[in-house]
Amino acid sequence: MRHFLADDDLTPAEQARVLDLAAELKRAPYDAKPLAGPRTVAMIFDKQTLRTQASFAAGIAELGGHPMLVDGALAGIGVRESVHDVARVLGRQASMVVWRTYAQARLEEMAKYAGVPVVNALTDDFHPCQLLADLLTIREHKQQLAGLTVAFVGDGACNMGNSWLLAGATAGLHVRVSSPDGFAPAPEMVERAAAIASGTGGSATLEADPVAAVTGADVVVTDTWISMGKEEESAARAAVLAPYSLTAALLAHAAPDAIVLHCLPAYRGKEIAAEVLDGPQSVVWDEAENRRHAQKAILSFLLEAR
Ligand code: NVA
Repeated sequence: MRHFLADDDLTPAEQARVLDLAAELKRAPYDAKPLAGPRTVAMIFDKQTLRTQASFAAGIAELGGHPMLVDGALAGIGVRESVHDVARVLGRQASMVVWRTYAQARLEEMAKYAGVPVVNALTDDFHPCQLLADLLTIREHKQQLAGLTVAFVGDGACNMGNSWLLAGATAGLHVRVSSPDGFAPAPEMVERAAAIASGTGGSATLEADPVAAVTGADVVVTDTWISMGKEEESAARAAVLAPYSLTAALLAHAAPDAIVLHCLPAYRGKEIAAEVLDGPQSVVWDEAENRRHAQKAILSFLLEAR
């Protein structure tokens, strides 16, 4: 039984296979029906969602399956009943479970007891489905992954910073994360990525100076400064993270043909300037669309790997 709980659950070869499949599914969205039946996929959201719910629901339907939305607030997982009881129940109703929640440990417990593949639809630690879409988007615009340089500027300690390190290293990218003191990814995460990168020719580094991080980069990425669950820290975070805002002046240090990614939702004038998000180097709408294709590919991969 395979699960997709963190970016490095896929080996470099598997990640490449999933991305190839995603590109194929994008070319012919209605041809593959591995969920024909229809088989049900449970989607649970303990945090807010737009792209993830929409792209999984559409993608599961395109694969011939039925997306079953389980309201996290109504289910009260871990409150009304334990994660392992919920896992056992959902595993009897659904062919797979897609879950957005808080602690990574909750997802791991779900995977342990569900008896069906479990997919991380975002936790406090990782957002691996987003990274598959991001890598697909880079491949489309740059025709390659390995050897490119990605600069992530902003809150590097969040799920997106971690996932960029792990998924980027798996793809052979040179990943530079640039954050102020207190907002850098944990050293264990950088070491975990560096270990992967040593086998793929990529690298994983921290660079506190945002200009140095962005200089010459092929891909520049940022994410909200206020991840879900951190709302009470808004004012303090905005003050510390302001020098890491992705402005046109900062982007000017990147390669002239650099592309800009943002997983969205975006806050114009905060982590990214409106003229950058809405400008010619931004590929965020392709990136948002690619969630569907990438997730169809990982669901297909997990079904086949069972
Ligand atoms: N880091 C953000 C990603 C949103 C898709 C969050 O966790 O809220």
